[in-house]
Amino acid sequence: MPPTKRSDEISSRIGVGFLGAGPVTQAIHLPSLSRLTDLFEVTHVMDVDADVAAAVASRVDAASSTSMDQLLGDPRVEVVAICSPHKFHAAQVIAACRAGKKAVLCEKPFAVSAEEAAEIASVSAETGVPIVVGAMHAFDPGWLAAEKLWETLPETAHTIRVSVVLPPNARFEDFATEVIARPAGGWPDYSDPEVIAATLEGGVLGLAIHDLPLVRRFVPTFDDLQVLRAEVVRPWGYVFLLRAGGRTIELSASVNATWKPDWTLEATGPDSTLRVTFTPSYVQAGSAVAEFTAGGLTKVAGPFDHNGYEGEWRRIAGIVHGTEEAPEAGALIEDLRFALVTVDGARAHVLEAAV
Ligand SMILES: NC(=O)c1ccc[n+]([C@@H]2O[C@H](COP(=O)([O-])OP(=O)(O)OC[C@H]3O[C@@H](n4cnc5c(N)ncnc54)[C@H](O)[C@@H]3O)[C@@H](O)[C@H]2O)c1
Repeated sequence: MPPTKRSDEISSRIGVGFLGAGPVTQAIHLPSLSRLTDLFEVTHVMDVDADVAAAVASRVDAASSTSMDQLLGDPRVEVVAICSPHKFHAAQVIAACRAGKKAVLCEKPFAVSAEEAAEIASVSAETGVPIVVGAMHAFDPGWLAAEKLWETLPETAHTIRVSVVLPPNARFEDFATEVIARPAGGWPDYSDPEVIAATLEGGVLGLAIHDLPLVRRFVPTFDDLQVLRAEVVRPWGYVFLLRAGGRTIELSASVNATWKPDWTLEATGPDSTLRVTFTPSYVQAGSAVAEFTAGGLTKVAGPFDHNGYEGEWRRIAGIVHGTEEAPEAGALIEDLRFALVTVDGARAHVLEAAV
């Protein structure tokens, strides 16, 4: 029988398999992919929890399993999206590369140590499988438009500031305190320096990491990174003051139970300023807005019709179809190293202050 129109459409779409089907898969990626059905088809959902895998798979008419090997062995999975907890990311990225998939989208952070990152770099180079890390702001059309507006600011900026104000979010707090269990139903015990250090680590790897690849565009080198200030903010949040490559970097986050959330990156030089205002995580409400001011003139770009989550998937489609370049693995490793150096510096700063 000649193929129907529907099967023609399906065969031209890129098959996606999810490893981990928690909130990020359900509330971020599936809604993004539901707007890109001309490009992608979710073919397989794997989760260690069989009920979650089956329930999520049934929403998109995909196969389900509890085994990574089964998903990787499924020929209808061409791109693997890794949305499991952080500690599994590196091994799953490596397995997906070795399975010869067309691309891997790994949620941030794609590794939690420099050793893991180095191993990923070598497997990616050996297998040639492109890796996209889900730092969604880097794929936001508002940010991509800012890159075209900012003239010489990356060379001249002296101060880079990222400020995040979010509604209360126990997910960050839980990750931040997984090293030491938080008191049942309470906030972390910030009298313990280990809890402070763990909270700051969770803040960097869970939240600040979204923007560190963007910050790095204005920070030429960071081998000299110094942590001048590293504090927790109650009930949850952080303030970091860093110096690196001759730049001052301020990173702050706080939860605040009042409307409205705010997520802003600013880069300031002697005669120009960039301000990018992002939409909050999980929200699919169009792109960031970029404002670039120089010589008394402000140019504005955005908002555009989609955000960085959808931008990630559009980029993957371009990579798979050979129309766009894959991110450079070396840059991904440097982004992660920047995060890890900040975590290590913050820990040392907190433990020193406690003596
Ligand atoms: N890009 C963003 O805006 C954003 C926002 C929040 C979280 N994240 C990242 O996304 C990832 C997932 O976040 P989440 O909130 O959905 O996490 P979660 O821990 O709530 O859910 C992850 C799911 O993975 C499953 N799982 C556990 N071990 C697994 C394994 N070995 N293999 C496969 N599945 C496994 C769990 O059963 C769960 O259903 C995290 O790395 C997180 O940092 C990204």
